[in-house]
Amino acid sequence: MKIEIPRDCDRLGGVQIYGLQKVYELDSGGNFGKENNTHNNVIRSIPSEALYERQKNMAIVVPVKNERLKLIEGVLVGIPHPCQIIVVSNSPRGPVDRFQIEKEAITNFCKFTNKRVTVVHQKDAALAKAIELAGYGELLGDDGLVRSGKAEGMIMGTLLARWLNNKYIGFVDSDNYFPGAVHEYVQEYAAGFEMFDTDSTFVRISWNSKPKVMENSLFFAKWGRSSVHSNKTLNLLLSYFSGYETEVVKTGNAGEHALTVDLALNIEYAAGYAVETHHFVNIIESWGGVLPPKDNVDQRDKVTICQIESRNPHLHESKGDEHVEDMIDASLSVIYNSPLCPELLKREIAEDRAKRMNLAEAEPIAPVKIYSNLNNLNLDVFLEHCEAAFASNTESLSLV
Ligand code: GDD
Ligand code: MG
Repeated sequence: MKIEIPRDCDRLGGVQIYGLQKVYELDSGGNFGKENNTHNNVIRSIPSEALYERQKNMAIVVPVKNERLKLIEGVLVGIPHPCQIIVVSNSPRGPVDRFQIEKEAITNFCKFTNKRVTVVHQKDAALAKAIELAGYGELLGDDGLVRSGKAEGMIMGTLLARWLNNKYIGFVDSDNYFPGAVHEYVQEYAAGFEMFDTDSTFVRISWNSKPKVMENSLFFAKWGRSSVHSNKTLNLLLSYFSGYETEVVKTGNAGEHALTVDLALNIEYAAGYAVETHHFVNIIESWGGVLPPKDNVDQRDKVTICQIESRNPHLHESKGDEHVEDMIDASLSVIYNSPLCPELLKREIAEDRAKRMNLAEAEPIAPVKIYSNLNNLNLDVFLEHCEAAFASNTESLSLV
């Protein structure tokens, strides 16, 4: 892959946020043509072998809730072979058992591909027990099972990635129409880890375009409606601390992202769709040097956030306007309710929201549920019970 080095870097304490990097060639060749692997001052050429080496230690988590089987299969087709795939499904078990159907389809797919896939249901009782025994009961609802929501599925996926001994974890949504786009995201995750080889690297993807039909022709929109709000507000937050206006953040709520498992196990998770924006906020809270260090958070020399602009158009299932509004609200809530957020920015967020929602006046924004730092979970206890769950009473399954 040929990829430009980042032009900008904003720093806040130990957090380095690199500006968006463009990809110039999806495949720039392998190790064989040495002349093609040269670095020049602005472009880095990463041989495909190097990407595959990273992917051998990478789990890709695919969250699923009621998606069409053809879409899920297309996503699996796009994930490069060396990766460990972890499907976390929250599809209904009745009256029709969608999860059973998904498992059958994935098992069949694996016969043809020999891919390494683990499939779990979010409401798996044995895995919920392992999480409870490990002291992270906050993830469970009144029924003793993991709560519903994308973030909750991501936490399960993160724990399983660790159980399967991966160094990196990436996420791709299961409602993507283009296997080629999925393939590109995972190649870019690997490129990010290759360029920034630290224990605390976070790679986030910004789609180059999102096709829409407008007046009978295709229009390639640059920004999603929800990302406009989260990017702008995160940039205002950074500007407040640095004193310089910035536009460095382009991936505030990027659903397509990857990070080292080490970092994933040392951050907080906001419930549902606030999760990605909260990752940004929480990393600044923990290592930005603005708030006093928290006792339970490891201090780190640096946390590197790298942002890559993908080339394929991103086309996924359309889930309606109300869903987008909820997502904007959840994203802004985590910034608004962060101890980092200055009064001035709080007022601005509340006033913008009042305009967007036609409210008579600005109102405070209710907090969303935040799961505490995942390092509060006793990993050894979880791993032991997870092993036992897969050996005996779980309905989840691991395929070659
Ligand atoms: N396991 C699990 N559990 N998966 C879920 C759940 C759940 O409760 N709810 C949704 N999913 C899956 C969906 O099947 C899909 O694959 C993925 O999570 C994303 O859900 P969508 O409903 O398609 O979200 P979106 O497309 O509106 O938003 C995406 O992009 C945003 C950035 O624009 C998500 O990735 C957001 O998290 C992201 O912020
Ligand atoms: Mg979607």
